[in-house]
Amino acid sequence: MPARKPAFRGSEALLPILTSMLVARRSAKTAHYNSCNLQFPQHFQGHTVLILGIESSCDETGVALYDTTSGLLAQQLFSQVEMHAAYGGVVPELASRDHIQRILPQLDKVLIDSGRLLKDIDAIAVTQGPGLGGALLVGTSVATALGAALGKPVLGVHHLEGHLLSPLLAVPAPNFPFIALLVSGGHTQLMSVDDVGLYTLLGETVDDAAGEAFDKTASLLGLGYPGGPALAKLATLGDPNAYKLPRPMLHSGDLDFSFSGLKTAVLTLANKLRNQAGSLTEEDRANVAAAFETAIVEVLTVKCMTALKTAGIKTLVVAGGVGANQRLRSSLNKAAAKLGFAVFYPPVNLCTDNGAMIAFAGAMRLAADLGENLFTRGAFSVRSRWPLSELSATSLA
Ligand code: KG4
Ligand code: ZN
Repeated sequence: MPARKPAFRGSEALLPILTSMLVARRSAKTAHYNSCNLQFPQHFQGHTVLILGIESSCDETGVALYDTTSGLLAQQLFSQVEMHAAYGGVVPELASRDHIQRILPQLDKVLIDSGRLLKDIDAIAVTQGPGLGGALLVGTSVATALGAALGKPVLGVHHLEGHLLSPLLAVPAPNFPFIALLVSGGHTQLMSVDDVGLYTLLGETVDDAAGEAFDKTASLLGLGYPGGPALAKLATLGDPNAYKLPRPMLHSGDLDFSFSGLKTAVLTLANKLRNQAGSLTEEDRANVAAAFETAIVEVLTVKCMTALKTAGIKTLVVAGGVGANQRLRSSLNKAAAKLGFAVFYPPVNLCTDNGAMIAFAGAMRLAADLGENLFTRGAFSVRSRWPLSELSATSLA
């Protein structure tokens, strides 16, 4: 099948490289560090399992080593943001090429930093989807080649499950069950999480994702890509009450979201201000940014609290890139404290895409015996589109 050829050629070409890495490596420096102390040895009946995680679904290359007794041993993360900024968004072909250059040096570095050897790795977890097809193929090719060279299992991980479980990497970690707010560049979902693989979708965006709304609004305000962090920074200088923007679907009676109207409201407001004064002043831009951020945060906060009350669950976890937003964090913390709920976030450096969350999700799946996405006999596939509901269904089967 011609469509599969590049993937197999890629993994074959990597085999000699990976094998030579295996042979060449003698001993590594023991700069061991442990930034996470999550323990779940009961799942492995006292056995410590070392899992390599690889993430390459979009514009971040991440490689990490997770040990089921000691926690996260080491991770490497490279963001391609600067490269894509010139184009105003991710260029898929450039993303794939850059992943190719990064993964093996990153692997080398995490082994050195953790003081572990390739032969110590028990299993490899890699993002199988959803994401950019070519970018996903880079990570899965490397993982499969490495698995073949080491004779170790390779597990395909759902990117969103990585985000969803990443707050469990925080210390202290939340217990199941919890409500998860997943807010990334491509998704805005509220989920009830009963256990690993037991996810029920409670509500989601009917149009733009929260991160997408941040990025598009940032672009309207002349901020670079990715817009979320830049808009959040500008918003700290503005008055959130200077303008009143709509709170879409705040009273819709369900847990769905809609953010595209908010972006249009910002466009209308910006045009009005421009027409009045000829251009947007720095103060206008900061005020618009603050008003936008406040509107989106209010909707997210109210829906999260409704989800917790309705489900009778006391714990909220927040995952995905927008989870790094400080106004969102303080609003959720304040609302939850009032109602007696607890909120957990992943460490800020693990909010956006990273290899640690993939290694961790892989570990959790193996621990729960949910290894149905194991790549066997050196064959692998990627799933650019992969609803999380399909993952749950296969897990429950
Ligand atoms: O989870 P993520 O790294 O990638 C996806 O899987 O989409 O999320 C990226 C998104 C982008 O839209 C980015 O603008 C947004 O998260 N983001 C933020 C902040 N940091 C990242 N949005 C608002 N405030 C932030 N501090
Ligand atoms: Zn992501």
